[in-house]
Amino acid sequence: MSPRHRVTVHDRQNNRVLSADIEEGRYVLEGFEASGQPLPFSCRNGCCTACAVRVLSGELDQREALGLSHDLRRQGYGLLCVARAYGPVTVETQDEDEVYMLQFGNAFGKGTVRAAIPLEEE
Ligand code: FES
Repeated sequence: MSPRHRVTVHDRQNNRVLSADIEEGRYVLEGFEASGQPLPFSCRNGCCTACAVRVLSGELDQREALGLSHDLRRQGYGLLCVARAYGPVTVETQDEDEVYMLQFGNAFGKGTVRAAIPLEEE
């Protein structure tokens, strides 16, 4: 039987604190779901940043987090869908789209999409 590690999530948007004892090697997002405490997600593949958090203490093993640059990881961001805990960890939820804009904002941005070539009038 694998050891379990306490993971605490400060859910800032909903003003609540969640915690679960998650088996070593199990994805944190999945562990919270198994404990009946679902957290935000979308792709579940470490690519979209919907599950991003800031690590307040401890460490996450997130070698599969393709959607998070090494620089953002060094700044303390993590993706819970592909993160594993090997000790106690405390995180807090991100501001809406915070990590998406840091990671992809320069490339994709947000807002209106305009046609590069004007459409012909009928
Ligand atoms: S749900 Fe998409 S990166 Fe985690």
